[in-house]
Amino acid sequence: NKLKGKGVWRYKELIAGEYKEIVSLNEGNTPLIKSSSSPNLYFKFEGANPTGSFKDRGMTVAISSAKSLNYKVVVAASTGNTAASAAAYASRAGLKSYIVLPKGKVALGKLAQSILYGTTILEVDGSFDIAMNSVMRLYKELKIVYPLNSFNPWRLEGQKTIAFEIVEDIGVPDNVIVPVGNAGNIYAIWKGFTELMNIGIIDKVPRMIGVQAEGAAPIAKALEKGLDKPEFVDSPETIASAIRIGKPVNWKKAIKAIKSSNGFATYVSDSEILEAQKELARKEGIGAEPASAASYAGYLKLVNNGKIDKNERTVLILTGHALKDPDAMVKAEARRILINPEHINEIILSDLR
Ligand code: F0G
Repeated sequence: NKLKGKGVWRYKELIAGEYKEIVSLNEGNTPLIKSSSSPNLYFKFEGANPTGSFKDRGMTVAISSAKSLNYKVVVAASTGNTAASAAAYASRAGLKSYIVLPKGKVALGKLAQSILYGTTILEVDGSFDIAMNSVMRLYKELKIVYPLNSFNPWRLEGQKTIAFEIVEDIGVPDNVIVPVGNAGNIYAIWKGFTELMNIGIIDKVPRMIGVQAEGAAPIAKALEKGLDKPEFVDSPETIASAIRIGKPVNWKKAIKAIKSSNGFATYVSDSEILEAQKELARKEGIGAEPASAASYAGYLKLVNNGKIDKNERTVLILTGHALKDPDAMVKAEARRILINPEHINEIILSDLR
């Protein structure tokens, strides 16, 4: 109850590290929205962050750390959201930024943000995993660049505040469902709950449930087979470009979070993802990008096959805003009618008949 302010830095005392300067866009403090149809289901809408994804929570901490350590140059590989967030926070901090993207595989809204915030965009022919690898190499060779990917622990320090906000809103849920790509966020959220338990604020940690896309599911498929190590995917494919990742760098941390919370992982098809995205928008009024809708697709599947009970309190992390990926949105079938403006009333009157 000593807590002051809103958002990520409200929890400053629980965020490791020393900061000479804090670079913030008032990220965090996102709405936890109760489902309109299912009384025990909640949506944590991370699309409400300043650049439209949960990445901003990690970026405020990582960029503050880069500033405090006097770095001048930051770099990140990305499927798009990390790039948009890194570019925005680097601008705010006055740091030079480079982002490494898989060419042609980044959703339009995210690319547009990166252009607007004025970062340098470096593109690789190939998947995110190749971009990630190049950043790892760069950072080892060129110590003057500060890496903003989620192997950077300060990113996860910021993202763990998702757990703190959930606890403040509804206490400890039974399940938290997280879409998994590079596998940092599920660990960060678990770390947040675990720390609250260790200081005696809560008495249990929710089951952490990871959802991957079928064509990019190294962790979910391995756990399903009882393996402790993912079988990496060379050419990951899914409509959910944010989580089109075959070799998640944080896989060990993710498996630790899942196993020690008695959770599990599952995967969903692209058509399940798009159907879930549409249902979220049309039944709940919530616009989430495909990767985020994967958590809802996973929830529906797990309720269906009895792995989750509808009476359990479940929070879905909706990681990014629908506007991030306009191409995915326009794939939904729509009622669009060319009208004669003189007869605009006819459609409505005939609908009402
Ligand atoms: N959802 C969205 C919208 C994402 O952008 C990401 C990751 C995830 C889920 C998965 O989180 O990687 O911590 O398991 N996007 C990264 C990026 C890879 O570059 O923007 P994770």
